[in-house]
Amino acid sequence: MTDDTPLFLRAARGEDTPRAPIWIMRQAGRYLPEYRALKDEHAFWELVRTPELAVEVTLQPIRRFGLDAAILFSDIMTPLPPMGVSLDFAPGPVFEDPVRSAGAVAALRVPEEDAVAPFVGEALRELRRSSPVPVIGFAGAPLTLATYAVQGGGSKDFGAFRGFLRAEPAAAHALLEKLTEVSLRYLRMQLRSGAQAVQLFDSWAGLHDERSYREFGLPYAQRVLQGLTDLRAPRIYLAVDAGHLYPALAELDAEVVSVDWRQPLSRSRRALPGKVLQGNLDPAALLGPEEAMLHEAERVLREGLGGPHVFNLGHGIFRQTDPERVAALVRFVQGFDRRAAAWSAVSGGRAGETRSGGAA
Ligand code: CP3
Repeated sequence: MTDDTPLFLRAARGEDTPRAPIWIMRQAGRYLPEYRALKDEHAFWELVRTPELAVEVTLQPIRRFGLDAAILFSDIMTPLPPMGVSLDFAPGPVFEDPVRSAGAVAALRVPEEDAVAPFVGEALRELRRSSPVPVIGFAGAPLTLATYAVQGGGSKDFGAFRGFLRAEPAAAHALLEKLTEVSLRYLRMQLRSGAQAVQLFDSWAGLHDERSYREFGLPYAQRVLQGLTDLRAPRIYLAVDAGHLYPALAELDAEVVSVDWRQPLSRSRRALPGKVLQGNLDPAALLGPEEAMLHEAERVLREGLGGPHVFNLGHGIFRQTDPERVAALVRFVQGFDRRAAAWSAVSGGRAGETRSGGAA
């Protein structure tokens, strides 16, 4: 690895970088006026399935804010229609016919690697040429995809899905098997098409106790992650509200774990030894006054010292966020000198001494 390796990749591979790279979950989306302008003309699926549009939306926040990584504009639901599951966005996913029986699982197709979503491959090849920063590909983890496919959409408690795991465990495992194969093929295609890192979104893993997670979540997520090892790209695993699962998450073959805001990074670091931490500013911090937001961001940066850190929010940005807050946050994080901060922490120096602005 040479010094011109982009900062995001250095941190994601485990380097304790002089400043923390920053990107933001849902960085392309409805809080940006330029996204809303495109959305006025094109339906969500059309943006996702038209490579030039997906590339444009992916790069909008990069141009505006100078973030350290770009995440492909798409959705975790993208591979489901090719499996035979139709859904629409309103704006969250709504399924025509939720998958709730062994027969429905048996009918699902498992498309070949290049047939899952060829438009995503095309978008990634173009992004690799035109993006000034590393490009992150992504997929839903099998458990989280199953959550939506069975429930039929978003839900407060996902009762239909959690009931299904108990009533039809064999069908649930058969569904998870198929989703594992599709997610793995889909991510391999993304890495071969130019993605330089991948994030596996297990947004709803935290719904389950550790025993259920070890039965229905962990083994499938692990198979996806391990199936990517030979491609040698950093793998990020995200779970939300999942502090109780950290002993299990620590076993995953992911270089990076994305954590939410519910506990300080310093505590998560002890629970996830050897992992790069990504996170964990509360997205609600961007809804308050700028000064209060920067204060919270500084706390996150300080708690992230002592190991590799990729700055992010603890979950997706709220759509009512003022883009000016994002601009201020990016400037602040990119100006925070982690070495000076670590030094002042041991020497008892003052907080103000770390804003040197000259960090790489
Ligand atoms: O991070 C990015 O900028 C990349 C784009 C991205 C989207 N969805 C765009 C999107 C990513 C990485 C996702 C992942 C995703 N989608 C997840 C996992 C991440 C998480 O939040 O836990 C989940 C659970 C989904 C499912 C989904 N898609 C939901 C719940 C919604 C509604 C969101 C909302 O804000 O109401 C979507 C639609 C969606 N996906 C939008 C965008 C920009 C909004 C659609 C619109 O423009 O109307």
